[in-house]
Amino acid sequence: HFMNEVSGFNLLEQHLKDKLQLDHVIVVPGNSDEHDWVKQELGKACVNYLKLMLQSNQTIAVTGGTSMAAVAEMMHPLEKARDCMFVPARGGLGERVENQANTICVEMARKAKGQYRLLYVPDPLSEESYQSIIGEPSVKEALELIRDADVVIHGIGDALTMAKRRKTSEEVLEKIVQGNAISEAFGYYFDSEGQVVHKVRTVGIQLEDLSDTNCVIAVAGGESKAKAITSYFKEGKSNVLITDEAAANELLREI
Ligand code: F6P
Repeated sequence: HFMNEVSGFNLLEQHLKDKLQLDHVIVVPGNSDEHDWVKQELGKACVNYLKLMLQSNQTIAVTGGTSMAAVAEMMHPLEKARDCMFVPARGGLGERVENQANTICVEMARKAKGQYRLLYVPDPLSEESYQSIIGEPSVKEALELIRDADVVIHGIGDALTMAKRRKTSEEVLEKIVQGNAISEAFGYYFDSEGQVVHKVRTVGIQLEDLSDTNCVIAVAGGESKAKAITSYFKEGKSNVLITDEAAANELLREI
């Protein structure tokens, strides 16, 4: 209630919730493609939502990207949720250090006065290295925490934008283009029907794991991401969306 009043986007939120069949939608004013402060508003809305629903001793898995970095930027002590543990959802996925899940995790934990556990794995991984890395005791321990996370917070990106940002090989890029990938989340590329076109092989949360998680929060805004958001939610296993006015309006036009 409190957040709806503040954002004043009740109707927009309700429409999106119905169309995408989600449990909760929060819309903040503006267009994050145009202004960085809108991304900070997305971050703030996410932190406020966490403050309402997080409980003590819970584990929160986070992905990378600039939207997640904005959540970390806005994080502050979560009085109701003591001793929370922040973990990266998956490997680095080719992001710059400041936008990697590990970095974001440390900042969130520090500001929320919680704990963190990190994952050090190169990615993408060959099948052979993948098998030996997941057998390592330290990685195994971190992976158990990650896959049992109570809450997952993640970004959604436009498929081609993400493939380029990650300096994806020509071969994989071709696969992504040929497969008509529209969106990307967790290292998975999805087409307009939400089918997986390509998956970056790395350790951490796999798409299947999300079905067992009660609270999966997507944070993604900007008019340019509307198609990606629609594509992800076709088969997406997230139940909460935090977005901005520009993405929301464009999304409702499309559906
Ligand atoms: O690479 C991590 C990631 O969360 C991707 O899964 C997602 O597509 C992207 O970042 C979103 O990045 P941004 O918030 O910068 O648009």
